[in-house]
Amino acid sequence: MANLHMQKKPPADLGLRVLRAWLQSGSPLGPLQVMGDEVGYFFQIPLPSFNPYVVFGPSANRAVLVTQRQKLLWRNTDPVTDLLRRGVLVVDGDEHDRYRQLMEPALHPAKLPAYAAMMVAQAKRVSDRWQEGEAVDLLVESRKIALLIIFQALFSEDIGPDLPQLWQPILKAIAYISPGAWILWRQMPRPSFTIPLRQLDAYLYNLIAQRRAGEPRPDMLQALIEADLSDGVIRDQMLTMLIAGHDTSTALLAWVFVLLGRHPAVLEELQAEVTQGDKSPLLDAVIKEALRLYPPIHIGNRRVAEPLELEEGSVPAGARLFYSIYLTQRDPRLWEAAHEFRPQRFLGGRQSPPFAFVPFGGGPRACIGAAFGQLEARLVLTYLLRHFTFEPLQFERIHPHMGATLEPRPGVWMRVRRRAR
Ligand code: HEM
Repeated sequence: MANLHMQKKPPADLGLRVLRAWLQSGSPLGPLQVMGDEVGYFFQIPLPSFNPYVVFGPSANRAVLVTQRQKLLWRNTDPVTDLLRRGVLVVDGDEHDRYRQLMEPALHPAKLPAYAAMMVAQAKRVSDRWQEGEAVDLLVESRKIALLIIFQALFSEDIGPDLPQLWQPILKAIAYISPGAWILWRQMPRPSFTIPLRQLDAYLYNLIAQRRAGEPRPDMLQALIEADLSDGVIRDQMLTMLIAGHDTSTALLAWVFVLLGRHPAVLEELQAEVTQGDKSPLLDAVIKEALRLYPPIHIGNRRVAEPLELEEGSVPAGARLFYSIYLTQRDPRLWEAAHEFRPQRFLGGRQSPPFAFVPFGGGPRACIGAAFGQLEARLVLTYLLRHFTFEPLQFERIHPHMGATLEPRPGVWMRVRRRAR
């Protein structure tokens, strides 16, 4: 096998190719792919005031996620940290471990069966409103389902009636942490966010106050309250969970619909399989293949605290470091037909090499909601595929957009019809 860690000498016209890829793909994913293909597992993005190192591939992933993780910080200087403040996603050390421990029981695999019926009910509730033959945007519909599920599961709150009023504030929170002009101008004033973010905070603070005054419930909010945390720190954890726990699931569900719309034979086979029984190996494989091609979290973001020596190169203290889940999972050295949708690759218990498939990260800070998110995707998709047919509309326009997650834009329009039972 060729040396996996070999770095290539960058071609002379690399800058031009990067620019062309940016224009062609309309997203930074194009340039990232060119850098990965042309330079290798280790490179630096050369932008003024924003020049993170980017690594990918099993060896670098293992170092970042496990063996050298002590040299890295999750807390960074960016809008994610500004918004989530002391949220479990953006703190380090003992403080992180304490919050994580408090929140883990609600997402433990043993607790998940208790959410199953509710997850299906939310899919039914949202899809019951679809008119026969109507065109719906599965990106929007998936977000509704995912939001109803996350609030009910973690905070025992039915936000159905409040969804219209919460919708814009939540989208604004997501836009606030998405890549944008702030990358080049860190102190950029962003006045359009003040009011919606305040509305979202007010909603969360109200839930905390109601719970403190009312009956205890067996959920994550209760665990946070009983740990004697301040309202501010509880708000930080709730906001973290609600964003990390629904925007990711939204993207995953939406990409599954994109891929099924583009592969009608797989859609047909899948609809037959989910209708026949409760277990569908093909559905599990389709979900994995969607997570591979379009990982909702496509990069992990770190600050280097101590100099890092990787097989591929060195990163100085103080630098920003990304590990690219997207490039790893599309690396032709690891995956046959790396850019093609082939769910069969995950059938029959076939294993991918260690640290080659990392849609939920890895190591001690791997996604806390991985099992929850996969169960949710399985149950929601099973319900929808059993009850509806889906006809893609204007799919040629769909492209991956780098927001807080990797999202199919401008949306996933499909004509829906009830299936004859
Ligand atoms: C398809 C669904 C999901 C995907 C693809 C996903 C992906 C990820 C990834 C890649 C990471 C690690 C990032 C890194 O290493 O920098 C992560 C961490 C995290 N995820 Fe998820 N996630 C999903 C669902 C969820 C759900 C449902 C929740 C909550 C209910 C959640 C909450 C979190 C939190 C709090 C962290 C930070 C954990 C820590 O630092 O200890 N995620 N997720």
